Amino acid sequence: MIHLTIDGQAVQAREGQSLLHTALDAGIYIPHLCDHPDLEAKGGCRLCSVTVNGGETPVPACMTLAEEGMTVEIRSEAAEAVRRTSMELMLATHPAECTGCPKFGKCELQSLYQYMGVNGQDWRQKSRPVPTDEKNPLITHLFTRCIRCGRCIRACQDKRGVKVLEYVRDAGGVHAGIPGGKRLAEAGCRFCGACIEVCPTGSIVDAVGLMEKYPSYADNVVPCRAECPAHIDIPAYIRAVREGRPGDAHAIIREKVPFPLVLGHICNHLCETGCKRTSLNDPLGIRNLKRFAVEHDAGQAWKDKGFHKPRTGKRVAVIGSGPCGLTAAYYLNKLGHDVTVLEKRPQLGGPMTSGIPAYRLPLEGVMAEIQWILDSGVKAETNREVTSAAALRKEYDAVLVAVGVSKGRKLPLPGAEFQQVYTAMDVLADSRAGADLSYLGKTVCVIGGGSVGYDAARSLVRQGMTVHLACLEQADRILADKEDQEEGAQEGIHLLPGRSFEAIEGTPDRVTGLRVHTVLSSTYDRATGKVTEVAEEGSQTVIPCDSVIFATGQHTGLSSYESFGIELNGRGYPAVEGFNTSVDGIFAAGDAITGISFVIKAIQQGREVASVIDRYLGGDGEIDETLAERSAEPRIGRVEGFAALPRVEQELRDVKQRLSGGADVYRTYSCKEAECESGRCLQCDLRLQLQRVKLWNEYGGDNG
Ligand code: FES
Repeated sequence: MIHLTIDGQAVQAREGQSLLHTALDAGIYIPHLCDHPDLEAKGGCRLCSVTVNGGETPVPACMTLAEEGMTVEIRSEAAEAVRRTSMELMLATHPAECTGCPKFGKCELQSLYQYMGVNGQDWRQKSRPVPTDEKNPLITHLFTRCIRCGRCIRACQDKRGVKVLEYVRDAGGVHAGIPGGKRLAEAGCRFCGACIEVCPTGSIVDAVGLMEKYPSYADNVVPCRAECPAHIDIPAYIRAVREGRPGDAHAIIREKVPFPLVLGHICNHLCETGCKRTSLNDPLGIRNLKRFAVEHDAGQAWKDKGFHKPRTGKRVAVIGSGPCGLTAAYYLNKLGHDVTVLEKRPQLGGPMTSGIPAYRLPLEGVMAEIQWILDSGVKAETNREVTSAAALRKEYDAVLVAVGVSKGRKLPLPGAEFQQVYTAMDVLADSRAGADLSYLGKTVCVIGGGSVGYDAARSLVRQGMTVHLACLEQADRILADKEDQEEGAQEGIHLLPGRSFEAIEGTPDRVTGLRVHTVLSSTYDRATGKVTEVAEEGSQTVIPCDSVIFATGQHTGLSSYESFGIELNGRGYPAVEGFNTSVDGIFAAGDAITGISFVIKAIQQGREVASVIDRYLGGDGEIDETLAERSAEPRIGRVEGFAALPRVEQELRDVKQRLSGGADVYRTYSCKEAECESGRCLQCDLRLQLQRVKLWNEYGGDNG
């Protein structure tokens, strides 16, 4: 250690440490601006001037190394004079108006001139005509506010190795910029945001609105992770894929969810809606990379990691084995409780094994993920229908109702009670179980254009049936996602959008058709649940068919307080506050309280309710774990044409192959494709590695 005094205070420095950082580490403030803790010091701004060993010529503290026995004066007359002149010169070319700046209140320059007592208004006379540049995606330049500290240039050149920003001279004088007046994309920018993060003023900022969506700064910087309901560390696992470490990628995903492969196939990828690359071209194929990571994890090293708390002797029953119930069971077991899952069907998995068709979600993958939950210690009983949660509570310390919404609803049409009228949930369960579906006949009408309607329709065209899919929505408003619509059309589904349903024709034991008319427009009133439609005159017609399948909503199947023992709301869902039902020790979560939702949301509900139940049983509810170490190289380098790199899609099998068997409709990425796609990531999270510079009032001691 090196011993020295700064303003009369004895301090210690490490070998090679600058005077500036020696002082700051000791809580002694020296004004500074061009210095940044993550960048090499260049000594340009001179605000950190100090005098050393009684000398008269000030030196920059950021560029001067601490030496044994040194005496340093921060406020010597000579140092103060240099500092003051430097500040005045900076202000002379800075816009006079601060209040319109996005950095107002957080600007290091503003904080410094206030600290130094320099009146900015006296000096702000020269205006530099550098226009605001809002033409780049994600990043806005207001170089008129540039104070030439060079931090952004050092971040871009040295820290990231991208080499886009340089000092340029134009009508506005010298400032940071892009040589040749190029746009960021053509100059090779990787849009990592390091320049924004280190800029001390409002010269380089995030595009308007980008940092306002979430309450937390980190979430605004990394919106993909914020959008994922389970907050999977998406940039970290994409990095692991890119670096050829799919096992680590799988482990990182598993830190938040016990069904990575399921999600890799069928997640609705809310994360992709947050991906900042969407502002450049298309979002990253995050879901597809998840699937790649899981399918290429040969070592499964995560199995030996993670927490396992001591056994508590407490018993928990989970009713329902869908993604919510099994996730809760998995974590509750890890938290030390004895968990038994009770499933009314012959197979565990809920919609993952009895609803979502095999062409979207291969059974072996689901069963492997369920098996790991059982191997970890969760017990399960199938063919076990629970008729009363309250009665079950007498045998267990806590009960979780996670029954989902597995019962289909029919519209109240004349003929809906006929024998050949089914719900999509029943047909999908039969289809998944490999049952003979010939009872449906040769021609089927599916009512409902959501994803469940398409699941049913696409399953049945694979059985060689003629399938009409009719829905109230107009073609451009269909609820199912674009892939379902396009692929369903290729597979032969006959879509009838904008139809209203009048009756099912036939007799109780033989359906002959579905009577419909065309609607020109329709509106749905959420409050009353009523639909108002404008019908096309004379458009009534009957679609001949052998059976009708309703894909028009689902419910829990729970009937009454008297029978199930907990209060239900008007829609037949458990009435809850948080996850607590009306009975102490009985909790409810997942689709059973939210209504039909996405698997990732059900999994997150499972995580949250596991924490709540653990706390109820006396635990701390802590379920976060790290299953793979993180590493992130800050020097990302240049990639020519980076901004325009096209999204790599998974290969869609041709229609004949798709229709000939239960095979997945997509092929997983090849290693090369995964490398290319993961290479498109902007690595927004790297920005969070950069330290935030503390303002003078954040240091301890007397810095006034
Ligand atoms: Fe030392 Fe700018 S901080 S010269």
